[in-house]
Amino acid sequence: MIYFDNSATSFPKPEIVYKKMMDLYQRFGVNPHRGNYKLSFEAGNIVEETRTLISNFFNGYGRDFVVFTFNATDSLNMAIKGLLEDGDEVITTVLEHNSVLRPLNHLKNEKNIKVTYLNIKDEEISLEELRQNLSKKTKLVIVNHISNVTGYIQDIKAIGEIIKKNSRAFFLVDASQSAGIVPIDQKDSKIDILITTGHKALYAPTGIGLLLLAPEVKIKPLRTGGSGHNSENPYQPENMPDYLEAGTLNIIGIFGLKAGIEFLIDTGIENIHKKELLLKSFLLEELRSSNFNIFTSKKDSAGIISLNSNKYSPIELATILDEAGIATRSGLHCAPLLHKSIGTFPEGTLRISFGFFNTEDEVVFLSNILKNI
Ligand code: ALA
Repeated sequence: MIYFDNSATSFPKPEIVYKKMMDLYQRFGVNPHRGNYKLSFEAGNIVEETRTLISNFFNGYGRDFVVFTFNATDSLNMAIKGLLEDGDEVITTVLEHNSVLRPLNHLKNEKNIKVTYLNIKDEEISLEELRQNLSKKTKLVIVNHISNVTGYIQDIKAIGEIIKKNSRAFFLVDASQSAGIVPIDQKDSKIDILITTGHKALYAPTGIGLLLLAPEVKIKPLRTGGSGHNSENPYQPENMPDYLEAGTLNIIGIFGLKAGIEFLIDTGIENIHKKELLLKSFLLEELRSSNFNIFTSKKDSAGIISLNSNKYSPIELATILDEAGIATRSGLHCAPLLHKSIGTFPEGTLRISFGFFNTEDEVVFLSNILKNI
């Protein structure tokens, strides 16, 4: 199989990730922070080293503010539901994934919150429109960094500046498609809540996500339970990150995330990015005289191309490719508002998403099939 569905999850993972995950799990696969024996302390040390690695990688606020979650959806639910109260206003965008849209819609049924969706023009939200919509009541601004449908990229540094200059709102960046692809500096971009998943471009397995908070963000925990200390306390201890991490951690996921980020640092995320952009421009060149309508970023974003055709539906295109041994994703990609905005609702598009392990030969194979459809 030729795999062009890296926006859904990166596959395969770097060999070193599989090896290190197994090795660490075989040696330290006990419950960290829970036992009074050396191995439990050592497992705990690896978990804390991983938090430090992550905080440094994103220039975050230190290891105490790195919260391990189950995935990006989990991080978003924790932030959105743990923060918003009656009377709050939220600004978000049409670029968002259902992992933002649905928690907000459900919350709107329970609480009196107002949500504004910023549209895009030439791939980006308007900074002026954002500024005009900020008010005293704006508690949260949620922005998708790189779109999983088109690869459109938002200028998070400029957005962070506008938010901080004009409001007291918290800035949440959904970096599910950008973490590991482009550098992210939490402090410099004034990001109060940075969320991402492990299993995409950070090369971790599924089941591990991240929530990186600024110290002033206080969110109520969605889950409460064991913390491994202060067991006499009837409530969740309020120290971070324990406040938001009830229960045993996904230890093998954390080991995988550590190995994935070390791989990224060793390889250089600029080299990975360059390769994905090269493959993308190669396919765009191949398809230049084809009849497909192409939706992708003109900027140096992720290696994501969406397309559709006047003759075949996206699902038919994906099925033809599957018959040829090529994996892609078709439909709305859980981002219905963006498809409405680019005019591809309700059928959606066929999405091709490149990864570091794709090759030019694979792109030639794909383009030959697409051109012959
Ligand atoms: N959000 C993932 C995708 O874009 C699953 O395919």
